[in-house]
Amino acid sequence: MDGEPSNALFTLLIVDDDAEVRSSLKRYFRPMPYRILSAGGGQEALECLSRLRVDMVLLDLKMPGKDGLAVLKEAQAMLPDLKIIMLTGHGGVREAVAAIQNGALDFFEKSTCPDMLKKKIDQAYRMWLLDRENQSLRQELEGRFSFDPLVGESPPILMLKDLVARVSPTSTSVLIQGESGTGKELVARAIHHHSSRQAEVFIPVDCAAISESVIESELFGHAKGAFTGADQATLGLIRSAHKGTLFLDEIGELPLGMQAKFLRSIQERMVRPVGATAMVPVDVRLVAATNRNLIEELARGRFRQDLYYRLSAVTFHVPPLRERGEDILLLARHFAESLAQEGMAPKTFSEDAKRVLLGYTWPGNVRELENAIRSAMALARGPAILASDLPMLSDSSGGNAPVSLPGGAKLADFEREAIVGALRQTGGNRRKAARILGISEATLYRRLKQYQF
Ligand SMILES: Nc1ncnc2c1ncn2[C@@H]1O[C@H](COP(=O)(O)OP(=O)(O)OP(=O)(O)O)[C@@H](O)[C@H]1O
Ligand SMILES: [Mg+2]
Repeated sequence: MDGEPSNALFTLLIVDDDAEVRSSLKRYFRPMPYRILSAGGGQEALECLSRLRVDMVLLDLKMPGKDGLAVLKEAQAMLPDLKIIMLTGHGGVREAVAAIQNGALDFFEKSTCPDMLKKKIDQAYRMWLLDRENQSLRQELEGRFSFDPLVGESPPILMLKDLVARVSPTSTSVLIQGESGTGKELVARAIHHHSSRQAEVFIPVDCAAISESVIESELFGHAKGAFTGADQATLGLIRSAHKGTLFLDEIGELPLGMQAKFLRSIQERMVRPVGATAMVPVDVRLVAATNRNLIEELARGRFRQDLYYRLSAVTFHVPPLRERGEDILLLARHFAESLAQEGMAPKTFSEDAKRVLLGYTWPGNVRELENAIRSAMALARGPAILASDLPMLSDSSGGNAPVSLPGGAKLADFEREAIVGALRQTGGNRRKAARILGISEATLYRRLKQYQF
């Protein structure tokens, strides 16, 4: 028995006691995209079948020891879906017919031209490819329809899930408010997945991460030649969400001028790309999120009232994690399980670790919890996560106790240092740096602006 191990290829097992036959068949099939294994006898073939994934067997009928018919019966008992083609010498037709009656797919005489055999195998190979394609489509569909990403059974989360289920099928725009890391984007995605637009695109736009100079063309697109360097027309983010959902994250960061243009665009359901004369119709479902208090922003004149009312037809409040303590352990287990599925060693939680998780106030909300579980899973040596694997929660920082800083140092200095460190560590990649810091990319962007990096 030989051949390279691989699960991604259609695998053919050639079983014949005659080494000449084995090697000439192998040579013949070499140009095909198959993985080819071979066995010199019935017993060896069965061992191979019990250890490796095989899709099709070319099985010699007459072999010393266990003959083809016996192998066929045992193999079929073991692997009912296995496709087996019998190979016969001269005059083995009667046995071959018996093999077909016992479930073999076909039989071929070894002396005849192998082209027919090749065709038969090729057919099976194509079916195998189709099956695999169907399987992955099915998995994708199942994933889509069973999409219920919001983990939690606390009353506020149950209420939120109920609202999502009721509001999503309508075309109403939704404003999602909540502290950083509470799951606003997840709620937006849930709205999209429960809507009639679920098969269309979900386009998240981080209003805080687009610089003011390009925000208009990023959102509305531009015509060819609209400005220097615009040698290609672009669609813009709004139009790329056509028929789907446009998620405006950190909407509070949208500059005032843009707010007016955006409002006009959504009221008219039309987009005018920068430098274009004509308006282009667009159909999007709007979901916006903010961790600012937009009512305060209105009062300060930083957010347009008309846009606020247009966006907030329905407003969802995602509660901070400290107000839904019942969900902490559920979420912790959920994250531990997903990380185990991604390949980390599975872990349970010790009673001490649970106490630490429940006693913490989670200023960074669910994102902070997710990060804490990720690092605890990496730190824990045994099968259970211990309190000592959650050092960032059990010491004084972040919890109820006041933060003690060395003389004269300001919290901002630490923050600045942490940001510089994370950016350095990731070679300037903001997405990754934000992940390390346990904040959203938008928050990182705001901090960068604030510290004038
Ligand atoms: N109820 C929940 N169930 C499962 N995972 C959650 C839940 N809430 C949040 N998460 C996870 O926590 C992380 C933060 O959530 P998300 O990005 O949606 O928060 P956010 O409110 O948009 O944060 P920010 O304001 O910082 O952008 C994500 O990885 C998300 O998948
Ligand atoms: Mg977010």
